This record gives sequence, structure tokens and C-alpha cells, in this order.
Amino acid sequence: MAQHPTLVAPSLLAADFARLGAEVAAIEAAGADWLHLDVMDGHFVPNISFGPVVIKALRKHTRMPFDVHLMIAPVDPLLAAFAEAGSDHIMFHPEAGPHPHRTLQAIKALGCRAGLVLNPGSPVVLVEPLLDMVDIVLVMSVNPGFGGQKFIASQLDKIAALRRLIDASGREIRLEVDGGVDPVTAPRCIAAGADTLVAGTAVFGAPDYRAAIDAIRRGPA
Ligand code: DX5
Ligand code: ZN
Repeated sequence: MAQHPTLVAPSLLAADFARLGAEVAAIEAAGADWLHLDVMDGHFVPNISFGPVVIKALRKHTRMPFDVHLMIAPVDPLLAAFAEAGSDHIMFHPEAGPHPHRTLQAIKALGCRAGLVLNPGSPVVLVEPLLDMVDIVLVMSVNPGFGGQKFIASQLDKIAALRRLIDASGREIRLEVDGGVDPVTAPRCIAAGADTLVAGTAVFGAPDYRAAIDAIRRGPA
């Protein structure tokens, strides 16, 4: 079981892009813990979203930690730009470059918390030799690139395996899940050991952001 109270990180990808500042303020007022920012390059994933310029513009509108999910390749040349833009957490996919350990070192040197992201097809062993370097492990429960996809339930076993690995390490590492998280799938993630949940459509697609965030945090009433 997760050791931490569950945190909810709404994904800005599902927000109204014509009103980003207002959307961020609204989810902060509604009790969101972190702001999840999905950066896509049209190369590592088949979609393009936004980059450091947008993140920097949003930084002054909120105190929420910026949980930046890089779906870009290569990663290293852009790390400084994302740190300077105000990222608190920088997470990347180990497949995005040949030297994930070096990338983690670079993120730490920039003063950010570092995270590794596992695609649905990526094994837990990718994280194992890097566990002493990570602050967050992000499990994708959809294939990255788009919001609004169906939760891939086979990832629950991976979440449970990572929970055991993290607990055995004795390190403070958040175990975050991203993709298709809603009030029905959230309790399954929490039961498997997740302590942090990303949700795009289930928050920004809901009429009441606070009710949506509470439902994901606590599961169905
Ligand atoms: C997918 C992104 C997710 C996505 C989640 O590539 O990493 O963060 O926005 O969206 P929902 O919650 O709608 O599946
Ligand atoms: Zn994401």
C-alpha cells in the first residue's frame, strides 16, 4: 500500500488552451496538489503540445509544483530551458536517449526533482539501476501522446511491483500514474500502491473541478 496521502495532479493537456491562466487558477482553488504539464514534440510521440515558453508564462499564476512530463527526444539539450521556465519536477522516458543516468544527474544539478516514466510496454527493470537517482516514478497507463484514452489495466501489476521496489529501497520516491485515471480507475491505482494520480479529462472535462479532484483522491462515494 502507498505510504503517502494521495496527491492529485491535473494534466493541463485537457484544459481550455485559450484560457490557460484561468484554468490553472481554477484547479488550484479546487484543491489540486501539482500541475502536470505534458510536453510533446511530434517525434518521440505523435502529437505536439507546448514547451518552456508556455510553462514560464504560467509560473507566475500559481504556487503549485510544476510536474513536467517530457515526451521529447533528445531530452538533454532542453533540460536547462525547462528548469529556467520554472519546472519543479522533470520527468522523462528512458527510451528518449542513450544515457538516462546522465540525464538524471543533469536534472538534479539544475535543482529539480527527477522522474523516470515507464510506457505501458516498458519494464520495471529500466528503473531498477536508477532508483537511487529518482524522486518520482511515473507509470503510463495509456500510450503517451494523447489525453482521453482508456486506462490499460495490465499496468496495475507494474504499479504493485514498483511499490515493492520503492518500499525496499527505503527512499522517498513518489509513485505516480498517468492516463485514463478517473473516479473508477483511481482506487485501483491506489490499491496497487500509487500515491500520486494524474488526471486530464476526468478533471477538466468535469463541470465541478473540486468535486472531480475529490472523487479521484478518495474514490467513488
Ligand atoms: C498522455 C499524457 C497524460 C494525459 C492524461 O500522453 O501524458 O498526462 O494528458 O490525460 P487523461 O487523464 O485524459 O488520460
Ligand atoms: Zn503526462
